[in-house]
Amino acid sequence: MAEINASIPFDKRLWRQDIRASVAHARMLKAKGIIDAAAADAILAGLAEVERDFAAEGVPVDVRLEDIHMTVETRLAALAGPDAGRLHTARSRNDQVATDFRLWVRDAVDGHLAAIRALALVLAGRAAEHAETVMPGFTHLQVAQPVTLGHHLLAYVEMLRRDFGRFSDARVRMNQCPLGSAALAGTGFPIDRAMVADELGFDGPTGNSLDSVSDRDFALDYLTSATQCALHLSRLAEEIILWASQPFGWVRLPDQWSTGSSIMPQKRNPDAAELVRGHSGRILGLMTGLMVTMKGLPLAYSKDMQDDKEPVFEAHDLLELSLAACAGMMAALQFVPERMRASAASGYSTATDLADWLVREKAVPFREAHHITGRAVKAAEAAGVMLDGLSLADLQAIDARIDAGVFAVLSVEASVASRDSLGGTAPERVRAAAERALQEIPAWC
Ligand code: ARG
Repeated sequence: MAEINASIPFDKRLWRQDIRASVAHARMLKAKGIIDAAAADAILAGLAEVERDFAAEGVPVDVRLEDIHMTVETRLAALAGPDAGRLHTARSRNDQVATDFRLWVRDAVDGHLAAIRALALVLAGRAAEHAETVMPGFTHLQVAQPVTLGHHLLAYVEMLRRDFGRFSDARVRMNQCPLGSAALAGTGFPIDRAMVADELGFDGPTGNSLDSVSDRDFALDYLTSATQCALHLSRLAEEIILWASQPFGWVRLPDQWSTGSSIMPQKRNPDAAELVRGHSGRILGLMTGLMVTMKGLPLAYSKDMQDDKEPVFEAHDLLELSLAACAGMMAALQFVPERMRASAASGYSTATDLADWLVREKAVPFREAHHITGRAVKAAEAAGVMLDGLSLADLQAIDARIDAGVFAVLSVEASVASRDSLGGTAPERVRAAAERALQEIPAWC
């Protein structure tokens, strides 16, 4: 029983939050005269000592004490004597754990917000550096149209902006204090919940005691936000893996971000990127796990809810590492612009530019222009050249309306430069977008 019942092996991570919430509670009990000043002062001095002890020695794990709340209280009793027993007036472990855990998740969110900001800054910096570097843009992982590397990197900044928004939104929603809901029904003691909420940095107290002790939406909001962020990182990681593979050769992973093989001396494996990709699956699984735990639970507290902490802790550690690894890799990656450009030029990626030119310059209907361009691509394939490797005579044999002006749009540089619509890939657009991102990211909220 002790073993299945205990949460101390993992909820010891809540020790700072547990002490912090107890300090706020004790101060309120004192202010409201619910316990006398001498007892409150003994409790507060004792809690300060518990904090020093646990910081120095770590939290003792004794499953007979069940959880972090009993562990702190037991140590407090040893230090402060019988007055320690007055701390638990007008509260329960049910509102205590709901409060401690919210405080912990709130700190976790703050850490992720900083890490997302840091990664976005790295990406925007690299985008500014590569506003003009041409690479193939893909659809279906088939070369589609040339884009700039800076544009590609800024796409991830957009994803991170939304991740940041989801986490800060979750933070606003979770920032209400359940302490004072007691076991489930509230309490008959004349407590001041607003005072406790304020002291703990919450925007105010929660509104319904039953909901307060049974709600784990804040943990689920955290996990869904973490999952979406991890999904984005997995896509970035996948690109690093793909781009670093020899057939691509678009990036070189620096030594500190690659590993060797025990038998193949030439290998530079992108293990960190692969683990970021892999971790995203675990984070998604942890989110699913807690959703299933919460599904169908009757009000109010049920012990199933003790299983809320491990998935959140694990997801936190995985996401924190993933964000740091992505920032480290993206800062250190060496791009190989010549290889990117060659890939862009080799895939008939300017075929759309030829079709657009026919529409614009020769008033050819787009569907017909598309057909003419298809024939030009076939002819180029047969001749083993790029589109701009066809002679004017070759092109005119396909359609007599084509003139020498067409060569101005067939290069990959001309292609990207022409796509200067809002949000487009033209280098001047990308440079401006990167500069704007570098200015805005520090002010994200
Ligand atoms: N260790 C418990 C948890 O993590 C604390 C709340 C226990 N409450 C109770 N009535 N047994 O959920």
